Amino acid sequence: MDDVKDFGTPKRTSDKTIQLTIDGVSVSVPEGTSIMHAASVSGVTVPKLCATDSLEPFGSCRLCLVEIEGRRGYPASCTTPVAEGIKVHTQTPKLADIRRGVMELYISDHPLDCLTCATNGDCELQDMAGAVGLRDVRYGYEGKNHLKSEKDTSNPYFTFDPSKCIVCSRCVRACEEVQGTFALTIQGRGFDSKVSAGNKDFKDSECVSCGACVQACPTAALIENTIIEAGVPEHSVTTTCAYCGVGCSFHAEMKGEEVVRMTPNKDGGANHGHSCVKGRFAWGYATHKDRITTPMIRKSIHDPWEKVTWDVAINYAASELKRIQKKYGQESVGAISSSRCTNEEVYVVQKLVRAALGNNNIDTCARVCHSPTGYGLKQTIGESAGTQNFDSVMHSDVIMIIGANPTDGHPVFASQMKRRLREGAKLIILDPRAIDLVDNSPHIKADYHLKLKPGSNVAMINALAHTIVTEKLLDEAFVQARCEDEAFKAWKDFIVKSENSPEVMMQATGVNAEDVRAAARLYATGGNAAIYYGLGVTEHSQGSTMVMGIANLAMLTGNIGREGVGVNPLRGQNNVQGSCDMGSFPHEFPGYRHVSDKATLALFEKAWDVKLQNEPGLRIPNMLDVAIEGQFKALYCEGEDIAQSDPNTKHVTHALESMECVIVQDLFLNETAMYAHVFLPGSSFLEKNGTFTNAERRISRVRKVMSPKNGYEDWEVTQMLCNALGYKMDYKHASDIMDEIARLTPTFKGVSYQKLDELGSIQWPCNDEHPFGTPTMHIDEFVRGKGKFIITEYVATSEKVTTKYPLILTTGRILSQYNVGAQTRRTKNVEWHEEDLVEIHPHDAEERGIHSGDWVGVVSRAGETVLRAQITERVQPGVIYTTFHHPESGANVITTENSDWATNCPEFKVTAVQVSKVSQLSDWQKQYQHFSEEQIEFAGKSKELKIH
Ligand code: SF4
Ligand code: SF4
Ligand code: SF4
Ligand code: FES
Repeated sequence: MDDVKDFGTPKRTSDKTIQLTIDGVSVSVPEGTSIMHAASVSGVTVPKLCATDSLEPFGSCRLCLVEIEGRRGYPASCTTPVAEGIKVHTQTPKLADIRRGVMELYISDHPLDCLTCATNGDCELQDMAGAVGLRDVRYGYEGKNHLKSEKDTSNPYFTFDPSKCIVCSRCVRACEEVQGTFALTIQGRGFDSKVSAGNKDFKDSECVSCGACVQACPTAALIENTIIEAGVPEHSVTTTCAYCGVGCSFHAEMKGEEVVRMTPNKDGGANHGHSCVKGRFAWGYATHKDRITTPMIRKSIHDPWEKVTWDVAINYAASELKRIQKKYGQESVGAISSSRCTNEEVYVVQKLVRAALGNNNIDTCARVCHSPTGYGLKQTIGESAGTQNFDSVMHSDVIMIIGANPTDGHPVFASQMKRRLREGAKLIILDPRAIDLVDNSPHIKADYHLKLKPGSNVAMINALAHTIVTEKLLDEAFVQARCEDEAFKAWKDFIVKSENSPEVMMQATGVNAEDVRAAARLYATGGNAAIYYGLGVTEHSQGSTMVMGIANLAMLTGNIGREGVGVNPLRGQNNVQGSCDMGSFPHEFPGYRHVSDKATLALFEKAWDVKLQNEPGLRIPNMLDVAIEGQFKALYCEGEDIAQSDPNTKHVTHALESMECVIVQDLFLNETAMYAHVFLPGSSFLEKNGTFTNAERRISRVRKVMSPKNGYEDWEVTQMLCNALGYKMDYKHASDIMDEIARLTPTFKGVSYQKLDELGSIQWPCNDEHPFGTPTMHIDEFVRGKGKFIITEYVATSEKVTTKYPLILTTGRILSQYNVGAQTRRTKNVEWHEEDLVEIHPHDAEERGIHSGDWVGVVSRAGETVLRAQITERVQPGVIYTTFHHPESGANVITTENSDWATNCPEFKVTAVQVSKVSQLSDWQKQYQHFSEEQIEFAGKSKELKIH
């Protein structure tokens, strides 16, 4: 189905152009291009099997031989570069003869089941047999062959059938070059050579199920199980992955209304044809039986749900919101939007709040992840977003990763980063835990792993900056030309103080001062240096301070404003950037303009024809606090699950219980829905139109590939609610919403669906000055004019270890699962991660008599939960680590209410705890089990339904 042209070998770029003749046609291509690629450009197709344009040529199949006038022999066109003036012939009787002979050998050792093969009609071997005119095999099929080789069906998503393997090694090369995992090899020689996943089943091997090998395979040897089950697709629609902030572009390949395969788009700006296990394979949740597709209402959370029509549900929700506002005041209601929703959906939710509810009580889940990025970058460089595109990393000489785990959290970008590291870029990692990139990825080893104590980020960034300034490694010319002088001087006076030296800060960070100094020298003097960071930076009481510290470091060394450098937040969810851009924060309209700004207020009042509030509304934690105090009484929560994702679960559920009307719009009856009074079924990303904005500010289209199972796209549901509240919304299509966003938001001025269709994707700002978008920001000057250094004093968190709570718990994510897991837990990805584990260092485990697999109680000042232990040296002594993908784990029962001083982003990464061996679940987990079971019954679903 994937009928995208394959040029056979990768595109080359060069200032020098070479002209040659192929089959009598003159063609000009960049120097370094292969003859095969040049032929393809000129419209000539050379038969091939081992070559494909996503991989470096290998030259093993001998099918692509050509003749070059004046040269002896028959060179392989995939491995032979073009040369000036040569005359190439791709179709001669001799070549046809050789090719038929090659194909004959392949086919004589290949099952003759084309008619019943799942890829019949979508197989390169079959195509090539036809292309070379092979009609029969002279040697018969009875000789020594591989036809009885056993299949490997261990991977839940794809099957390896060695009998169909032609040992072209495309899979091996895809795993190495594209994915960077090196899980596969060709074992043996000659006839005995075969593909091996390290002598293991695929499932038990190093394979991370990215599917690159399956995509590269020219036969049905490696094939998706969905294709085996459903056959080859009939049509395809290009859309964007709904999982992480990489924002991979895919062709959703369909049979009628059914997706049968997701193939990464070679022209995808963020992924260039690659994907991870989630985007490529984990889309089955969209049609999972747990989905709720009928609206439901109930008076109390202790009542069973009643299935109702959309009209009844919408009118009930609207009447409750109106009743509550009348009784408790205009400020007593609010909404939470989600980074999983499209830009258009988020936009209409915030508009509903501001225009129909008449307050600014709108917040988003970015509050609990990247709100410090927005604040910190805005203050220092003037724009609340990353500075580069992903491709920029290919120009980096030094890569610094802070508090992020790209191979698990942002896998496709990690593959690109690994490619650059294999080319020789240096690597500095600041993390309390040894992520895979430290020394657990083939051919990659961090030059410095600064294994700092959780909570000491700011101490570390100050120590790095101190070293650079005191050792005179700063880029004075850049600072002088591009940054505010006064602010820099004040900052410099602060940073040179001995209290910021690596030697003094060692007390806080626990990292050897010499290593810090060496890493600082490398960052400042190693060439283009880029910083990539994640939630290990933001989810701290000094999250915003750390973001500013990172921006300071980049400005100090001139590492901003060109390719290969910059400050790059790796966004967790698919549309974190977009949800922030779309005005989801209580103090900002779309485009990060403060609600008190008179001109902006006037603009929106005129456009929306309504009087708007000029005071910031409530943030999520404030909404919860005020709910418990009794003044916040109703919440509209779209696509977000605060009862699982937000800190101090007991506090969140207490707040939800205190409200009179909780409206949840989601695919599943999630944790928050257990406390809801109105359930509005949501639509999956496959069922709607819209856009997502990824971590590089790249706006990409989400296209409807099937009808919504619930009957409506999510923005339509919000529109119905808004109209029922008495404020008119009349969008006919998601594109109308984008047109309004573009009219009202300067950075989106040039964005439209038509332009997105033409360009594929656009990185904002997109305006008159940058009509095609902006891959790199701050090139000649910062968005705020001059960059501003801000003093970043280290203040230790109030969450201290004591004899009662002697360990620090920190959290993270895993490749196979996504966020609260509501989607990935409803796919076969659970086979890799059935439960959240708590990692404990062997010393701490031994002291407590804990072994891998034991149940351990994890107790903090906020609560207690029980998880299974995994003993590992990945964590340092004194630190334990867990993921948060399963609600019954209750990871957020133990996290505290501490938060970032500027944005209230929770301090998920530092919780003082004690652990001990236990034999039963915690009280919270027992209550949770009981409550969940009751709610399942209320939903009228069988016991098999997972409520979360
Ligand atoms: S699925 Fe990905 S990681 Fe696994 S063997 Fe194939 S290319 Fe390698
Ligand atoms: S499995 Fe497919 S890609 Fe790998 S060597 Fe065999 S035929 Fe080639
Ligand atoms: S890297 Fe992210 S966006 Fe890309 S396929 Fe994986 S989950 Fe989807
Ligand atoms: S395609 Fe050139 S040798 Fe196989």
